[in-house]
Amino acid sequence: MQGIHQPKREEVLKLPRVHISSHPVMEHKMTALRDKTTQPPDFYRLVKEIGALLAYEATASLTLQECDIETPLKPMRGRRLAGGIGITPILRAGLGLAEGFREVISDAQIWHLGLRRDERTLQAQEYYNQLPHQVNLQVCYAVDPMLATGGSAIDAVNILKRRGIDRISYVGIIAAPYGLLKLSQTHPDIDIYVAALDEELNELGYIVPGLGDAGDRQFGTL
Ligand code: PRP
Ligand code: URA
Repeated sequence: MQGIHQPKREEVLKLPRVHISSHPVMEHKMTALRDKTTQPPDFYRLVKEIGALLAYEATASLTLQECDIETPLKPMRGRRLAGGIGITPILRAGLGLAEGFREVISDAQIWHLGLRRDERTLQAQEYYNQLPHQVNLQVCYAVDPMLATGGSAIDAVNILKRRGIDRISYVGIIAAPYGLLKLSQTHPDIDIYVAALDEELNELGYIVPGLGDAGDRQFGTL
């Protein structure tokens, strides 16, 4: 990232359709997640718990449709989510986040997408794709803990759009201002939810202060 201009936090805070969590429980869990002494089993559990909190925030604007039900006491009008929900975990670090999402929306479809960032060029490469051809969703959430240069997130949204998904949200744990700006400018039609906005990318493309490598810390491949 040397020689590349990185925007400051303040410059991206007011981007449209960007939502940064401000919940105290989220901050508490984020502190434990970032701590370098947190070991993989606790790290994975925290990613799932943060995923569930983010799911709660990101689903607040979903559309409902009316339906008739009967309680044990009388008939009534209820409201159910209109249309299916898709979750696309960007492998492999998105897996824990997707699990947390599923605890909030248990009947969501899971569409796995494998993207690996080349650590030298920082370009994302697709290596796995389980997106169905029949698409009938209200919204699809692309979930991945780290929004660093934005390359993986931008590619994931491109792939979902090519499958005909017209309502997409990106959900991540930590964003760097650089990646957040790139994703928001490239895909101004999506909502972006993150738990925290950090300071910058270092020369290796890691988010600082960040949490290190989210995939390695979840799966113990340090
Ligand atoms: C990490 C992370 C994102 C990507 C972010 O994945 O989970 O997918 O890097 O970086 P970017 O914004 O610069 O594209 P990685 O490619 O290391 O794969 P992994 O999930 O298998 O660890
Ligand atoms: N991927 C990670 O896992 N961590 C970072 O800081 C950047 C990309």
